[in-house]
Amino acid sequence: MGQVLDEEELGSLLHLSCVVSESLRFEPAVSTSVTAYMTKDVKLKNLWLRKDDKFIIQIRHLHMNPDEWIEPHRYIPERFDQNSPYYLTPKGEKRNPFSFIPFIGGKRVCLGKTFADLTMKNTISGLVNSFNFEFSDEKYKTEWPINNIQVNFQVPMPV
Ligand code: HEM
Repeated sequence: MGQVLDEEELGSLLHLSCVVSESLRFEPAVSTSVTAYMTKDVKLKNLWLRKDDKFIIQIRHLHMNPDEWIEPHRYIPERFDQNSPYYLTPKGEKRNPFSFIPFIGGKRVCLGKTFADLTMKNTISGLVNSFNFEFSDEKYKTEWPINNIQVNFQVPMPV
């Protein structure tokens, strides 16, 4: 079995980090936020949100936004490598930090984010070092089951 790497060693594996990020962009484990409701009236630029208005954040749609991602429907880990042209938007600009939010962010950020990140990197590196993988069926190269986690409750939006 492959050795377990410590946090520093995992952090030095740039391509592994890019693969984990691109996997979470391409097929987010959680594709929408929970439903949140406003606790008071708030104006966000030209958008008014009134007290008790409800909203969800479509994580999957943000991750496929063609204004922010070059060829969003292709799996390209180098998007997360600062030295790659794919690191930028199609216009060659810096990406909006909210274009990639697999763990949401701000006050509602996932509490298990760091644990999940380290576990994914450790598990993937251990498996890849220990086994050779092949597809049990060629069709899985282009299709896979729909992942759709839905959380069915409402939370107040802290403002
Ligand atoms: C790849 C793995 C994971 C992903 C993509 C993920 C994603 C998310 C997202 C998007 C939310 C925000 C939901 C919302 O407010 O709309 C969330 C919340 C949360 N996550 Fe995770 N999560 C992951 C793993 C974990 C793990 C391993 C734990 C615990 C060990 C965890 C604990 C939590 C908790 C407690 C919250 C609620 C935070 C709050 O309401 O303030 N998550 N997660």
